[in-house]
Amino acid sequence: MHLPMALPLPNIVLYGYLVKFVVGASLLILLFGSLCYCLIVTRRSKGACQDNGSASELSPNSSCRVFTFQEVQQATSNFQERFLIGNGGFGKVYKGKLENGTVVAVKRGKAQSKQGLTEFQNEIRLLSKLRHPHIVSLIGYCHEGVEMIIVYEYMANGPLSKWLYQPNEAPLSWKQRLEICIGAARGLHHLHTSTVEGIVHRDVKSANILLDGNFVAKVADFGISIKGSSPEESHVVISVKGTFGYIDPEYFRSSHLTEKSDVYSFGVVLIEVISGRPALDHSLPTEKISLASWALDSELNGELHAMIDPNLVRKVRVSSLEKVWGLAKMCLANNGIKRTPMGFVLCCLEDALHL
Ligand SMILES: *[C@@H]1O[C@H](CO)[C@@H](O)[C@H](O)[C@H]1NC(C)=O
Ligand SMILES: *[C@@H]1O[C@H](CO)[C@@H](O)[C@H](O)[C@H]1NC(C)=O
Ligand SMILES: *[C@@H]1O[C@H](CO)[C@@H](O)[C@H](O)[C@H]1NC(C)=O
Repeated sequence: MHLPMALPLPNIVLYGYLVKFVVGASLLILLFGSLCYCLIVTRRSKGACQDNGSASELSPNSSCRVFTFQEVQQATSNFQERFLIGNGGFGKVYKGKLENGTVVAVKRGKAQSKQGLTEFQNEIRLLSKLRHPHIVSLIGYCHEGVEMIIVYEYMANGPLSKWLYQPNEAPLSWKQRLEICIGAARGLHHLHTSTVEGIVHRDVKSANILLDGNFVAKVADFGISIKGSSPEESHVVISVKGTFGYIDPEYFRSSHLTEKSDVYSFGVVLIEVISGRPALDHSLPTEKISLASWALDSELNGELHAMIDPNLVRKVRVSSLEKVWGLAKMCLANNGIKRTPMGFVLCCLEDALHL
């Protein structure tokens, strides 16, 4: 009888201390845990691409170097105009040489704009994870102050557009054109299918298909590319970006983006390859300005022959040309669902090459 009466008081005190201790300890652990979590998260999001690639969300295989501005200056002899090889929306592209002798292309962003920065980060994040023989390789980048510079492998023969409609270049043969299209299609197919959600390039055009010294095609410029959702789900709705003359009309109307928008743009590239003229040519009469509509109209009017690049006339098997034309039409279908996926485009082009 005495014991129970005697015990409660100290017990309560003891319990009180215990509760305080447990609560205090839990809080401490919670605090410490969330602190650790925050640290890990910020470290992870700090940059997709790090010096040795280990402490990042990248796959262990992707390597990407962070250059100092001084290193980039040395590589390009301080951005000398004579090393200028391109001048695009993002900024200027120079040919450069690293200290180990590797020749590179150096893209230097224009003075910092919000959009420029977003595209710069987007391209590094996506491209550092993409390794494919038909996707241009990222070597590294430099982000110091206002400088936003990306260093790529050097593509000696420049963009496909240059070879298609600039008169000072020797015309490409039909076989070369097909091989280039096959390469680019492989790159895009990889983009669409290598991850679960897929990546939509969003700016497929002949100026973004680069050719190396052996005319191997590689897809470039991932500034506005985005991760899509899986093909079954309805797709992301986002602001319309791209290049006039190549933009999928369905996406333009609805801002509903799918990888089929890339297929549409690739269809325009195929017609450029057949016709040897740019996607938009403002020097022509209104009905001919847009290559895609003009080509489709020409066929309706039975004037398809008028569209073929004079450099190809009588040098191409008609069956091969017709195959590619038929494919281009499928790519340009008004309705995305009716366009063929990139994998099928690839097969068709390989067939055309064998004809
Ligand atoms: C890569 O980074 C880790 C830690 O982030 C470090 O331990 C390792 O030594 C680094 N490796 C090289 C080759 O610098
Ligand atoms: C890294 O590369 C090796 C061989 O090149 C490959 O087997 C492995 O799956 C790759 N790992 C990742 C995460 O991509
Ligand atoms: C030269 O350096 C670059 C960047 O660090 C690297 O990607 C490349 O593999 C190196 N080339 C040779 C031949 O070592």
